[in-house]
Amino acid sequence: MSQLFSPLTVRAVEVRNRLWVAPMCQYSAREGVPNDWHLVHLAQFASGGAGLVMAEATAVVPEGRITPDDTGIWNDEQRDAWRPIVTAIHDRGAVAAIQLAHAGRKASTYPPFAPSRGTVPAEEGGWRPLAPSAVAFDGYTRPDELDAAQIDALVDAFADGARRSVEAGFDVLEIHAAHGYLLHEFLSPLSNQRTDAYGGSLENRARLLLRIVESVRAAAPDAPLFVRFSATDWADGGWDVADTATVSTWARERGADLVDVSSGGLVAHQSITTGPGYQVPFAREIRRATGLPTSAVGEITSGTQAEDILAAGDADAIMAGREWLRDPHFGLRAADELGEDATIWPPQYVRARRR
Ligand SMILES: Cc1cc2nc3c(=O)[nH]c(=O)nc-3n(C[C@H](O)[C@H](O)[C@H](O)COP(=O)(O)O)c2cc1C
Repeated sequence: MSQLFSPLTVRAVEVRNRLWVAPMCQYSAREGVPNDWHLVHLAQFASGGAGLVMAEATAVVPEGRITPDDTGIWNDEQRDAWRPIVTAIHDRGAVAAIQLAHAGRKASTYPPFAPSRGTVPAEEGGWRPLAPSAVAFDGYTRPDELDAAQIDALVDAFADGARRSVEAGFDVLEIHAAHGYLLHEFLSPLSNQRTDAYGGSLENRARLLLRIVESVRAAAPDAPLFVRFSATDWADGGWDVADTATVSTWARERGADLVDVSSGGLVAHQSITTGPGYQVPFAREIRRATGLPTSAVGEITSGTQAEDILAAGDADAIMAGREWLRDPHFGLRAADELGEDATIWPPQYVRARRR
């Protein structure tokens, strides 16, 4: 059996294989409530062989949405709308995960497929973004700086989101601390200019994330908990892979189980070199430095490429995003590529198998 199609157990949750679906915003919700788009979108990947299907960046408070059309988990109506989606994922054999998020200074923007760019104004349903410091992302409006009471409220909001997620049936929770959104903005000195207990030293910049890890762990004691980091800002003076490893270790002490290793998104002047598997070296470094399980993501598009990453000991699981959009049955294709037997194929589809 390939490593890609061997199960992985995190806490008490067994995932049937290590080819997972990365969180991908659909900008298709109303008032944060997911609908049949999200159900069909996410369930098809489970039919297509994914071991774990992660729902998109889901806001824990309304002002934490990237766009007005993001999903949310800040009220019970949203929780109840997630339930049939989770059931559809489970019925097709996959584990259901959700990414808990706050967009910080990159909140209240237009969806990428809208004709306009930048910050959505109040008259079109936008709001004033909140961030660690009143420093704008290039091209977006200047955010307001969060005060101590607002920070405390956020810790509770993530915990409430975690509790509702478990009530909705999600097996796995992920805290979004990547891509230049709120928690990454606290971590990086390029966006955090605070002079209180949440700014300055690495300990201070990591304080909010670590409080949230603790509160989510307390609210969902049994759920496997992932943290998605951007391992580098790809910019001078920014957050880097050594910082990510250190804070990952602190997060583990507070209950995190796996590091989902992405990169970038904090500043518009980032200088990224992409290509097949371009973020895998970061997953490798964090795995080796911390001993924590990692998932690798970024331009991983075939079963053999994914298998090679696992065989090299660079990661414990593979996440893919765009390849699942191109081919929602990526998992079935990867299984055939690696010579796996047909058990991952839904019996309804086996007549289409090419071997
Ligand atoms: C349409 C789309 C939406 C995305 N939304 C999210 C998101 O909600 N949260 C997140 O952490 N990353 C998001 N990403 C990034 C993906 O999770 C993934 O890290 C990235 O696409 C690189 O992997 P890939 O090369 O396999 O697509 C998104 C990517 C795409 C293409």
